Amino acid sequence: MAPRHFLTLNDLSTDELEALVDHASFLRRDWRAGNVRDTLKNRVLAMIFEKSSTRTRVSFEAGMTQLGGSAMFLSPRDTQLGRGEPIEDSAIVISSMVDAVMIRTFAHDTVERFAAASRVPVINALTDEYHPCQLLADMQTYREHRGSIRGATVAWIGDGNNMCHSYINAAAQFDFHLNVACPEGYEPDAALMETYGDRVTVMRDPADAARGAQLLVTDVWASMGQEDEQKARQRAFASYQISPSLMSVANPDALFMHCLPAHRGEEISVDMMEHPSSVVWHEAENRLHAQKALLEFLILNRLG
Ligand code: CP
Ligand code: NVA
Repeated sequence: MAPRHFLTLNDLSTDELEALVDHASFLRRDWRAGNVRDTLKNRVLAMIFEKSSTRTRVSFEAGMTQLGGSAMFLSPRDTQLGRGEPIEDSAIVISSMVDAVMIRTFAHDTVERFAAASRVPVINALTDEYHPCQLLADMQTYREHRGSIRGATVAWIGDGNNMCHSYINAAAQFDFHLNVACPEGYEPDAALMETYGDRVTVMRDPADAARGAQLLVTDVWASMGQEDEQKARQRAFASYQISPSLMSVANPDALFMHCLPAHRGEEISVDMMEHPSSVVWHEAENRLHAQKALLEFLILNRLG
């Protein structure tokens, strides 16, 4: 049987995503209660990181161990991937020895090519185009605080980047509307906008996007790989900051999320992480639980 992959949120149906998020909440409670779970005993996850990471690496590695399995960190610096071995050859070999592969890389095409040649499930742990694992944690976090996100308005303030693209997919899958406030020239991908135009409204003024919204989200102005653009982006995004004053135009119960790492004084004001609306630490912890649910789903083909 061909393996299931998780390269974007569209690789799962809405029902599967909802069940996965529910299972993640169960795993959170179960783990916090101190219960031991070994559903992935003797299973191995290979983790290929071509970009830096704190949350993604720690959550996948800890998650595998907590489920009785193990995770192996592979970097291009010390594997043949960094010396030009074709992606397809690497995929055939690595996937013949492990139970799942997680990849964080630049071009989205790299995870697609790896998945096409892999015998085991492949998980996109961030590409230049998408960050679907973060959306599992964000959707779980919203549900744990406010219940279903169906019918809500979510405001994305900032760059039309990989996180924004995954929010667009989430808007379609979880049935909410996304307002994107970004400067001209930093809009989300045109093809994605064409497909999901009825789910997304691009605006220039952050206050217009945030007005009445139930969730405000942002991300760094310069993503990994865009370090050379930092100065130009600081100028372009100067007025695209989530602050208590922007939160005050949102719904009174609105939540604030950020995938982290955060740059205080840039995309968020210095006091935003501690604002009463902020659920960023809960959101970060949920990477662990959401991905444990994802690993069980992909490796064992079951939800719960
Ligand atoms: N949010 C997120 O993916 O964080 P890391 O880059 O630390 O993995
Ligand atoms: N957009 C950011 C997300 C980091 C988790 C980046 O790609 O660097």
